[in-house]
Amino acid sequence: MSRRANGGTTTAGGGSTSTGNGTATTVDKGVDFANYFCTYAFLYHQKEMLSDRVRMDAYYNSVFSNKHHFVGKTVLDVGTGSGILAIWSAQAGAKKVYAVEATKMAEHARELVKANNLQDVVEVIEGSIEDITLPEKVDVIISEWMGYFLLRESMFDSVICARDRWLKPTGVMYPSHARMWLAPIRSGLADHKMSDYEGCMDDWHGFVTETKSYYGVDMSVLTKPFSEEQKKYYLQNSLWNNLHPNQVVGTPAILKEIDCLTVTVEDILKVEATVSSTIIKEDTRLCGFGGWFDVHFKGRNENPAECEVELTTAPSVDDGTHWGQQVFLLHPPVRVTEGNEILVNFSMSRSEENHRLMNVDLAYEIKVSSGKMLPPVRNKFYIE
Ligand SMILES: C[S@@+](CC[C@H](N)C(=O)[O-])C[C@H]1O[C@@H](n2cnc3c(N)ncnc32)[C@H](O)[C@@H]1O
Repeated sequence: MSRRANGGTTTAGGGSTSTGNGTATTVDKGVDFANYFCTYAFLYHQKEMLSDRVRMDAYYNSVFSNKHHFVGKTVLDVGTGSGILAIWSAQAGAKKVYAVEATKMAEHARELVKANNLQDVVEVIEGSIEDITLPEKVDVIISEWMGYFLLRESMFDSVICARDRWLKPTGVMYPSHARMWLAPIRSGLADHKMSDYEGCMDDWHGFVTETKSYYGVDMSVLTKPFSEEQKKYYLQNSLWNNLHPNQVVGTPAILKEIDCLTVTVEDILKVEATVSSTIIKEDTRLCGFGGWFDVHFKGRNENPAECEVELTTAPSVDDGTHWGQQVFLLHPPVRVTEGNEILVNFSMSRSEENHRLMNVDLAYEIKVSSGKMLPPVRNKFYIE
């Protein structure tokens, strides 16, 4: 499985960000650093992102096919990591690039900038974007902030903060737009996960019997909480998966569209959508839903891209990304056929314990060809 930054399992404490209930609360910066940022301090982890050809090609093409946005301009790279986007911005002709990175990776970025002889253009600043100060406003903000299913990690909050503080009124966002997608899927994972859960419960029952006979203590009162704990682990956690396009059994639907120039943190605290999808395969199994995202580099209306670029993480045979897709499995799967309509009520909000992780409520109803609506089914998932 590919890895993105770990959200960890932090609890809220004292700093400044927002949680799932929509109210701005505080987050302990030390805890957030230990659980989230620490992953990004490893070159091993940066290399994984730098080796994602789809990601790299999209950012590279967006910069070098739109040099008019960079030549002679000032650029801010939010979360520069190894420094790659700042370096490309400078190579494309920027006159000054501020490359901000919260972790010690900033030291490697500084070395890389120097080794590529760009130290007169790129200034690497170690610190949180929320805390640092720049000497001027910038023409372009470039950042690779996308987590699993777009919003996991909640790093986009930091980009919005940077935009509101440092982007000129005429400035351009790279990327400029983002979208979240959902589609019905079939997958053997639903059976595997159920069989893992059942195996785990069989093992528990053997354990209860043995503990009673060897040690004289009846543990059966804990069977229900153990079952709930394991159900969450095996059946309710969404899964990272690189789906084959053939596994998508219905028309994909857009859950959320974001204009990076105007969106607010409030707008992305919760994603709520009611969407419908038509099954496109004859007599198949609906095993769950797959979620993915795309981002676009279009510039802005008054200063558009000369060449628009798309970075998509949709299921693909040849162009998979380290983001893969997030899979939400149904237990049990349901038989559906071509023409059936699926109505989905989707809601995603931040975990109250850790604002970088997400909780999903997904309810669906199937309209069969007679027009009859099957009873709605509600599911709760965790993106951890
Ligand atoms: C997904 S990585 C992208 C790295 C690099 N820009 C690239 O494209 O390869 C995101 C980086 O942003 C940094 N980051 C996240 N939030 C930040 C913040 N609030 N301030 C500064 N850096 C941040 C992380 O430490 C990480 O190195």
